[in-house]
Amino acid sequence: MLLAGRRLVITGVLNDDSIAFAVARRAQEEGAEIVLTSFGRILSITQRVARRLPRPPDVLELDVSMPEHHAALAEELDRRWGGVDGVVHAIGFAPASALGGNFLATEWPDVATAIQVSAYSLKSIGVALAPLMPPGAGIVGLDFDATVAWPGYDWMGVAKAALESCSRYLARELGPKGIRVNLVAAGPIRTVAAKSIPGFNLFEDVWDTRAPLGWNVKDAQPVAKACVALLSDLFPATTGEIIHVDGGFHATGA
Ligand SMILES: NC(=O)c1ccc[n+]([C@@H]2O[C@H](COP(=O)([O-])OP(=O)(O)OC[C@H]3O[C@@H](n4cnc5c(N)ncnc54)[C@H](O)[C@@H]3O)[C@@H](O)[C@H]2O)c1
Repeated sequence: MLLAGRRLVITGVLNDDSIAFAVARRAQEEGAEIVLTSFGRILSITQRVARRLPRPPDVLELDVSMPEHHAALAEELDRRWGGVDGVVHAIGFAPASALGGNFLATEWPDVATAIQVSAYSLKSIGVALAPLMPPGAGIVGLDFDATVAWPGYDWMGVAKAALESCSRYLARELGPKGIRVNLVAAGPIRTVAAKSIPGFNLFEDVWDTRAPLGWNVKDAQPVAKACVALLSDLFPATTGEIIHVDGGFHATGA
C-alpha cells in the first residue's frame, strides 16, 4: 500500500462529490491514517459525509481565513500524532461578484477574499504544519490551469495563478526541510465549487471535444490517484511541480 503508516490532513471535503472526498477514500484504501478539516456551518456536514468513508475519520476545525485556527490545528495534530506526513489543500472560494463575467467591476475586498482563501491559504497551512512534517512529507494542492484566461472563471483564475506561484515559492522555502509541495491541475469535476461558476458547462463541453483521453466530469478518481501518488514516496525528487490530470486537454490546441 502506497501510504501505509502515513498521517494525512485532508482539507476541503464538503460532500461526496468533493475532490477531497475521493482523495480521502483513496488515501485510506492505500493505508493512510487521515483527519479531515472543515469550518463553520459546513463542519457538521463534513462530519456526516466522513461517515461514508471506509474508516470514518475525525473532522478538525480550520477556516483558512482565521490565523488562530491554524495554530490550534497544529497543536491538536502534535498532540494526537506528533507529526504529519502529508497535507491535501483542496480549498477554493470566490465571492459571486468575482465570477461569471464581472471581471472589470469586481472590487478589491472580494478579490482579496478569493486570493486569501484560495491561494494564500496554501502558505498559511504549510507554515502552520511544516514544523510537524518530517523529510519526505508532501503538500498537494488542487489547481485549475491558470496559464490562460477562461470565460467566467475571472478572479478565481487569478487566484489559481497565485496558487501556482505560491506553490513554487513554498516548495523553495520548504525544500531544505525535505518537504515537497506540488499541485494537481484537474480537469472539470462537477462539485459544489464548480457549480458555483456561471457557465461551468462550457468547460465540460470543451473538455468533451478536446481531451485526447476523454474526460468524465463525474469521476474524481484520476485526480485522487495523482494526489495519493504525490503524497507517497513515488515522487521523492519532485517539488514545485504541476501535474495535469485533465485527460491531456492542456496539451492540445484547438
Ligand atoms: N471541480 C473542479 O472542476 C476543479 C477543477 C480543478 C481544481 N479544482 C479545485 O479543487 C479544490 C476542491 O474543490 P472541489 O471542486 O472539490 O469543490 P468543493 O466545493 O467540494 O470543495 C471546496 C472546499 O473549499 C472549502 N473552503 C471554502 N472556503 C474555506 C475556508 N475559508 N476555510 C476552509 N475551507 C474552505 C469548502 O469547505 C469546500 O470543502 C478547489 O481548490 C478547486 O478550485 C476544482
